[in-house]
Amino acid sequence: MKKLIIANWKMHPATLAEAVSLARASDQEGIAVAAPFPYLAAVAAILKCASVAAQDVSVTEVPVGPRTGEVSGAMLKSLGVQYVIVGHSERRAAGDSEKVVAAKLRASLVAGLTPILCVGEPWSVRRRGFAASRAFVGRQLTSALSRSSGRIRPLVAYEPVWAISTSKHERDETPEDAARMAQFINKQLVVLGRRTRTRVRRLPHILYGGSVNASNAAVFLSRPEFSGILVGGASLSPHSFRDIARVARTTS
Ligand code: 13P
Repeated sequence: MKKLIIANWKMHPATLAEAVSLARASDQEGIAVAAPFPYLAAVAAILKCASVAAQDVSVTEVPVGPRTGEVSGAMLKSLGVQYVIVGHSERRAAGDSEKVVAAKLRASLVAGLTPILCVGEPWSVRRRGFAASRAFVGRQLTSALSRSSGRIRPLVAYEPVWAISTSKHERDETPEDAARMAQFINKQLVVLGRRTRTRVRRLPHILYGGSVNASNAAVFLSRPEFSGILVGGASLSPHSFRDIARVARTTS
């Protein structure tokens, strides 16, 4: 099965010219590039094989309106965007509450975009053990998904906050624990789907993110629990990212 690699550029690079050259280097099948808003149109025009992703969307289900500073899902869709990251830990840290994450997930679905719902526990929870982490992630899933109904097809990215390369607690997640969490997420999605009468897509739909690079990509990509990876820092280096893409081609 083909696995998906999402390049989350976060707030990089500094100029449009650099974004254009990074997009050219990242344009391969099986890849989605999540560029910052100002670069999306240029990146979308360059990508012929890769898909376009956005890093966020506003809490609004209307396509246009008197909402200064907001970006609707419909606008993203019109640029050719296919995926939207919602609930990333960096957005949660910037103030996105559980309610806002749920509303952004809905806004993405209403616009016909595929949300990538990020969940993951901080180090203060993980140091209390795996059961505490599971409970934390379970609550994030419930609160994000129980406000949506109908047929929903989110991708869920498990990103332990402490495993992100720029986290001050940075340490490596083991593929075994990441896979255990993915199994738990799957079970939760089934339970939630039943409870809300929502038809949530079944496997495969879980991505892993947190310090993935060319040296460890294979161990996550080869786990059947994961349908792909979400790559931050290593997606900013064309050389590293090409290596990750090569690993994905041989592992998938
Ligand atoms: P890093 O790959 O830099 O750890 O970032 C992970 C991430 O936050 C992707 O969304």
